Amino acid sequence: MTTTTTLSVAGPNIKTKLPGPIAAKLLKDDDRLMSPAYTRSYPLVAKTGHGAIIVDVDGNEFLDFSAGIAVNSTGHCHPEVVAAVQKQAAELIHMSGTDFYYPQMTELADRLSAIAPMKGPHKFSYGNSGAEAVEAALKLARYHTKRQYVIAFYGAFHGRTMGALSVTCSKAQQRRRFSPLVPGVVHVPFPNMYRKPEGVSDDDYTKQTAAYIEDWVFRTEVPPEECAAIIVEAVQGEGGYLPCPPLFMKELRRLCDKYGIMLICDEVQAGMGRTGKWWAVEHTGVEPDMITIAKGIASGMPLGILMTRAELMDWVPGSHASTFGGNPVAIAAALATIDVLEREAVKNSETIGRYMMERMKTWPSKLPLVGDVRGLGLMIGVELVHDKAKKTLAGEQRDQVVELAFEKGVLFLGCGPNAVRLSPPLIITKEQADIAMNVLEQCILDVAEGKYVKPNWG
Ligand SMILES: Cc1ncc(COP(=O)(O)O)c(C=O)c1O
Repeated sequence: MTTTTTLSVAGPNIKTKLPGPIAAKLLKDDDRLMSPAYTRSYPLVAKTGHGAIIVDVDGNEFLDFSAGIAVNSTGHCHPEVVAAVQKQAAELIHMSGTDFYYPQMTELADRLSAIAPMKGPHKFSYGNSGAEAVEAALKLARYHTKRQYVIAFYGAFHGRTMGALSVTCSKAQQRRRFSPLVPGVVHVPFPNMYRKPEGVSDDDYTKQTAAYIEDWVFRTEVPPEECAAIIVEAVQGEGGYLPCPPLFMKELRRLCDKYGIMLICDEVQAGMGRTGKWWAVEHTGVEPDMITIAKGIASGMPLGILMTRAELMDWVPGSHASTFGGNPVAIAAALATIDVLEREAVKNSETIGRYMMERMKTWPSKLPLVGDVRGLGLMIGVELVHDKAKKTLAGEQRDQVVELAFEKGVLFLGCGPNAVRLSPPLIITKEQADIAMNVLEQCILDVAEGKYVKPNWG
């Protein structure tokens, strides 16, 4: 099928008080049964989804600028993805690629190899989530280099399994009472261009931030010949939608080359076209040694992938695997997703992302509370501050903006301590982008003018 995606509905349509009666009952069940560790920002109880629209259990229609945390790259229930999943489910659901063979595994590997951000040949290991892809990368880096240390960044989010959590350093709550974590991880500063010291040029600040690794960490704490990997997001996601300056990534590559360290680029959130290129690291001109992939790869089916330069994957049978990893149904969804991304959605992410940024880059000078707007493609962060000179974090106001937008029928999430994240499906239209920006702008103005009233959600 080679149809262009068309959406029947453009924007929100809220018909009940939120939450509606059916949602309100479900929230009680959820409270009774589900883990209290989930971080729900508002009471959205989803029933169906098409394109960028989510319909809740009471029939309210929301414009989804969260995409299930940057997952539904082709939109909700894209017809080609649905057809591929249905066909594959009728033929073969599972056979475990760890112990048997099936053709979908290599078919997807070949498709990814053709768009890889580093020269081939490549090798692949399949899992079920972003965290699992990160686990595989960390384990392979140790296995291949026979070294133990890993350098990661403040603000980074790589997942919540013990290994991935050990390199995660985004919110203390994510780590609280789980220590001791995997030893050998050292966190270092990540460049934040909005918060660089006054009077220092972008390049000097970027170089100084990178130099900390060689001048301090390697000199005082981690002998570089014992460092297995540096793991980095080309756009920090959970940390606040902060793009990594190309010069910083180049400095990391230089250090890795100098000391024989693996450069792992975590593309779980920023990959699969979200930034307007297949991979966020492509914006930096650097070729990593390994990349981790999940979220947008399969439009919502669980799939996590480690892709490496082939010669690095030198582990032997038994070293690493996962029963469900590379499940045929998830792979079928991924192949259909790549078709849609290749044909239209990566380009659309670039085009609509640029269109949005054109308007939103005026917000820091125009709108109250907005300190910074940054991002690449359809991965845009809006940082809210109380005082634009002092850049004091306005985290509570950020939460209020997100809540008000929900009441108006647009789904955003937060990221970092005080930013609103925009991560819509990559197939959104200009009209939908306008609706989301209008709502966000209005909510920011309302909060700034003290019009926020805590919603009564029961
Ligand atoms: C950059 C990055 N890496 C890894 C993960 C973990 O992925 P998952 O939640 O699928 O385990 C996330 C999730 O938000 C992420 O943003």
